[in-house]
Formats: sequence, C-alpha cells, structure tokens
Amino acid sequence: MRLIMVWRNIHLTAISYSHYFPPMKRTPSGIAPVIQLRKRTTNSLYRQVYEGYRKAIVEGNLRTGQRVPSTRVLAVELGISRMPVLNAYAQLLAEGYFESRVGSGTVVSRSLPERSANPQPTARSRGAGQERRRVSKRCSPLAGAQSFSTARGLGPFTVSQIAFDCFPLQVWNRLVTRHARGLQAKSLDYGDPMGLKELRDGIAEYLRIARGVRCDAGQIIIVSGSQQGLEITTRVLLDPKDHVWMEEPGYRFARSVFASAGCTVVPVPVDAEGLIVSAGAKKCGHARAVLVTPSHQYPLGVTMSASRRLQLLDWAENNGSWIIEDDYDSEYRYEGMPVTPLQGLDRHSRVVYIGTFSKVLFPSLRLGYVVVPEDLVEQFRAARFAVDIAPSTFPQAVLADFIREGHFARHIRRTRLVYGERRNTLIENLSEGFGASVEMMGAEAGMHLAVVLNGISDKEVSVRAATENLWLVPLSSFYLGKNVKQGFILGFGSTPVLQIPGAVRKLRALLRSH
Ligand SMILES: Cc1ncc(COP(=O)(O)O)c(C=O)c1O
Repeated sequence: MRLIMVWRNIHLTAISYSHYFPPMKRTPSGIAPVIQLRKRTTNSLYRQVYEGYRKAIVEGNLRTGQRVPSTRVLAVELGISRMPVLNAYAQLLAEGYFESRVGSGTVVSRSLPERSANPQPTARSRGAGQERRRVSKRCSPLAGAQSFSTARGLGPFTVSQIAFDCFPLQVWNRLVTRHARGLQAKSLDYGDPMGLKELRDGIAEYLRIARGVRCDAGQIIIVSGSQQGLEITTRVLLDPKDHVWMEEPGYRFARSVFASAGCTVVPVPVDAEGLIVSAGAKKCGHARAVLVTPSHQYPLGVTMSASRRLQLLDWAENNGSWIIEDDYDSEYRYEGMPVTPLQGLDRHSRVVYIGTFSKVLFPSLRLGYVVVPEDLVEQFRAARFAVDIAPSTFPQAVLADFIREGHFARHIRRTRLVYGERRNTLIENLSEGFGASVEMMGAEAGMHLAVVLNGISDKEVSVRAATENLWLVPLSSFYLGKNVKQGFILGFGSTPVLQIPGAVRKLRALLRSH
C-alpha cells in the first residue's frame, strides 16, 4: 500500500505531491508516514506532526486500526526530540484519532468511520446524485442569470462606468485618512441598521432639494447599493408567487432578485413615454408591485411622461400595489427640466424609492439608500437587519463628510459638464458615421444611450467587439419576451472625448465586416 503523507507546502500547492514524497515505509512498530518537517515555519514541530497524521486519517490514507510507530521510533526517524512527537500523539489521542491499548501500542482509532483514500461514487450517490445535492428552487434560476458579461472592460462604451479620471481622489483620500486617524474604540461596534445618522441627514437634504423626493432622514435606510436596496424591498413587500411588472426591456440584475424571492416577473413593454401602464393592467392587473426606472428607463433611456406617471400611481393606489422606483442616474440630465420622481408625486405612500452612489460617485463604494414610506420603516429596519445587521460604518462616515463639506455637490456639477461633453461628442460621431441607419434613444439623461440596429446579431457583434477592446452590451439581452430589438447600449461615462471618434470608427468597421 502506498501511503503518502502530504505536507502543506504553500509554494507547492498546485503541484501533485506524490512526485515529491516517497511512499510510507513499514517499520517493525507500525506504519511510518513520511513527514517532511519544515524548519523555517511558524508552525511548531508538534503541530506539524499532529496535522500530518490528522490529514492522513481524514483523507483515508491511514486506515482505522492501523498501527503507528512508537513515539521513540518516529522521533528517531524524523530526527527530532521525542517531546514534540509525544505532544502530537497526546493530542491525537485526546481528540479520538488514535487509541492506545496496553501491550498493543498505538493504532488509528477503530471507532472512526472507514474512509477511502480515493472515494468512488456509490450506486446511491450516482443514482440520486442530483437530488442529494439539491439547492433551493428559488436559487436554481440564478445559476443561469447574467452577471457582468463579456461586455465589460476598461475601454470605450462600457456601461455603468464612471469618469475615473474626474473623481476627486485627493479629497476622498484626505477624508479617509482623517477618519482612519480618528478611529476610536466606540467606532468598532455595530452601527445603526438604518445607517449612520449624519449620512442619512445629508442624503435627505440632498434628495429634498435636488431631486424633489419627499422625505426626512428617518425614512432613509443605507444599503450597499441599489441591488441590496431591491433585495430588502422585495423581502418586505413581496411573497413567493407574487407577480411583479418589470419594464421590457428591463434591468437584468433586478430579475435575479425577484427570481430568488420566488416571484413571477411580468414583462410590460416600454415605448417612447416609458412603461405602458395599460398593457401591464391588461396582462396582469393584480400584480403586487412594479419596478420602474422613470427618470431614465434602463436600458432604452426614455423618460416616463407625466401622463404615464399619474396612470401608474393611480393603478398602484386602486390595486393596492407597490411601486419600486429605481432612480439610478437622474443627477445627469442634459435636456429639459429635472423630472420629479414618482415618489415626489405620490399622495398615498405607494412608492419605495431606491438611489445609489454607484454612478454619481463610484460603484466599488457599494453605498446606496432606500426611501421608504413612513409606516413601513419598522419592517424595512427588520429586513435590513436580517440581511446583514448594519452597513459598514467607516465608508458612511467618509461619505457623510464628503456631502457635508460640499464636495458631493461640486463633483456632480463638474461631472455633469464632463458627461455632457462626452455625450454630445458621441451623438455627433454616431450621426456622422451612421446617418439615419441607426436609431439613437435615451441620450437626454444619464451615462449611456441606446442604439437600435435591426438586422444584426447584437450578441455576436458584442463578442467580437470585446476582442477589439470595444465593450458593447447587446440590447437583445434585456428582453424576456420574443419581441426583441437588436442594438447596443453604449456607455459614455468613462470614455474621454478624444477617444470617442476612434471608437465610433472601430464600431462602424466592425458592423460593416459583420
Ligand atoms: C438600472 C440600474 N439600477 C441600479 C444600478 C446600480 O446598482 P448598484 O447601486 O447596486 O451598483 C445600475 C447600475 O448599473 C443600473 O443600471
């Protein structure tokens, strides 16, 4: 029998150890594993001997009842004093890996279950393999769901990517340093599940003044971005099997949240005025909730008209349904007046408003907020607690200062100009390069626009484009139903003006060759 004692040798972990360690040898007093002791390690000799045996037993290399060498023999073989071996054996005996009988020496404990060194699937595990490894029904659809796809990289057109070059890193770093230096013992405890009060105050003021959201700090819950905001909102408002309207085409990552809650998504078409409320009412009038992006529909970019907003609010009120408003990039509007969110028009507290700092600051910050109806604050607090107790305090404190000291407002003013310029350049270049052959949509706000290009396979083109460092998200991937438009979502947030003409030329050449 070849018994191989494998040692954790950090720099060799990827290599097959059997090439490095000779087989075990049978000594008169039992089976002696080859233990290669490492001298320059913080792991004591006793620990190395103990771990070597334990691993060999757990992995089935040493069988139950097998005799092991006496401490004296092993110490001689290893060239070490007897003390570490005695300690290791004592530990293995105490934990039940070894047993020792007077007159018969020490053996691997016979009360341990037999383990095979090379486990073969049994008939039972083969036959019922899938069933025994069953995961929840709610989780199953997620495995095939999209996360960031091939259409994401550091290059032109990447969607939801900010102007990295414009972020005031020096200011941010200064605030980070200030908070790191001022950290006190009391800062180490759990924070408020609702989030840091100073941050909620700053956000409430900003939302009231700049966005027309009706709220005070008590209604704001800090979350780790819109995605978690949606997860918590779903826990509070929806039950498995509830129907939820989603815009068609719509935000793909939101589908995963509803799917994992066991809800049924009902795709409701979008036109130039946003979600067609009458179509939703016809398809599934009793839906429990609707998720909408009225300021800048994702992905088409249209702004929901006043008439549709009022229709949607009326439907929700008449039906006892909830409106989940995802207002992810409304800081950036290049044409017309800022649009009042549904939350600001809502007279019956039917709207849950979700916002994020992923676009207006940076996505790795993982901070966002939910503005909840006053009578639901307690339920939201409890759901937020269940998800992850409380948000991390440190980045909240930094952000609270960033807002309070005016850096946030300044950054928005600055980036509005930067994105506006990038957006104008992209529109000009697309118009020059493609003329009437592309339909552009949704450029009046945000950090992306949509181009509709029927007659192509947008998925194929986007895969090829990625090889040329062009990051195109296929429009067709946002549809659930069959009536699918082909085209791309083009982000302009992270592409400097000077790079845009070249990127559009590349896109043209790619489409021509396609
Ligand atoms: C429609 C929509 N909502 C929300 C977000 C932001 O999500 P998060 O705040 O989780 O980063 C995005 C980002 O791309 C988005 O496209």
